[in-house]
Amino acid sequence: MAERKAAEDGQEEALPAEPDARADNGGVNILFVGDIVGGIGRRTLLDSLPILRERYAPTFIVVNAENSAGGLGVTPKIADELLAAGVDAITLGNHTYHRREIYAYLETEPRIVRPANFLRSQPGRGTCVVERGGVRLGVINLSGNLYLRAGRSAFTEIEVALADLGSVEHIIVDMHAEATSEKVAMGWHLDGRVTAVVGTHTHVPTADARLLNHGTAYITDVGMTGPRGGVIGVKREQALEGLLTQMPVRFETSDVDPWLMGVLIRCSQPLRAESIEQILMPRPNSSRAS
Ligand SMILES: [Fe+2]
Ligand SMILES: [Fe+2]
Repeated sequence: MAERKAAEDGQEEALPAEPDARADNGGVNILFVGDIVGGIGRRTLLDSLPILRERYAPTFIVVNAENSAGGLGVTPKIADELLAAGVDAITLGNHTYHRREIYAYLETEPRIVRPANFLRSQPGRGTCVVERGGVRLGVINLSGNLYLRAGRSAFTEIEVALADLGSVEHIIVDMHAEATSEKVAMGWHLDGRVTAVVGTHTHVPTADARLLNHGTAYITDVGMTGPRGGVIGVKREQALEGLLTQMPVRFETSDVDPWLMGVLIRCSQPLRAESIEQILMPRPNSSRAS
C-alpha cells in the first residue's frame, strides 16, 4: 500500500534503510568462486575468505559447489557450512544429484540452485535472489547441452529464468558447460541483459575474462577451487591408470597443490559490469610440493 501511495504521489521508491552494502568504490562487488572440489577445496575456500574479503570487499559471494562432497555432489551439511561462512548463493551442475540427501534440501533452501534447464520434475530450482543492504542479486544456473545431460535448451530456458527473477539490480549467470562454444554464445546472447556470465565445469581457468560490447562481464571458465596437482581434481596416478589401462578405476580427490580460482566483478550501474578480474591464488600457508 505504501508503495502505491508513493507512486500516486509521483515520488521515487526509496531503497530500504539498511546498512550500506556497497563496496568502497561506491558500487557492488561480486565474487564468484569456481567448482569447489572435495574437503581440500572447502578448506581452501574457508582459508582464503578472510584474504579475499580484505582485498576485494565483496558485496556478494557466489560459489559453485557441484564437486564439494568428496569430489561429486553436495550435501546439506556442506551447503550449510558454506552459507554459514558467508556465501550468499550456491550454484551446481551435472553432479547435482550425486548425493540423494541433497534432494529435499534443494526444495527447501532458496539460496542453492541447480541448472534452470533441467526438467521441471527434477528436484530444486534454477534461480534465486539474494539481498545485501537493499541490493538484490539474481543468480541463475544453466547447463550446457553438448556432452552434458540437461532436459531442455539453455538458450530458450534462460528467458524463463530471467523472467522468474523479477526486478533486481544485478544478475550473475553460471553457465556450467563442457563446450567453450556454448559458453561464448551464451555470453553474447545475454550481453547487456545481465551483469555477468561466468562459465564453470571444466575445472581449468581460461584467459578470456573481459567485458562484452554492452557491459556484461564474461569468462569461459573460472576454473576450480581444489588441487592443481591432480587431473581436474582426481589423484593423478588414478586418472593416469584409467587412461593407460582403459579399465575402471575408483577415483579419489587429490590433495596436492590446492588453489582457489574465481573472478571479481565490479559494478557501479545496474545490470552492468565495470570490470572483471581473474583470481588465481594458492591456498594460504599450504605447500605446493609433490
Ligand atoms: Fe560439472
Ligand atoms: Fe565441476
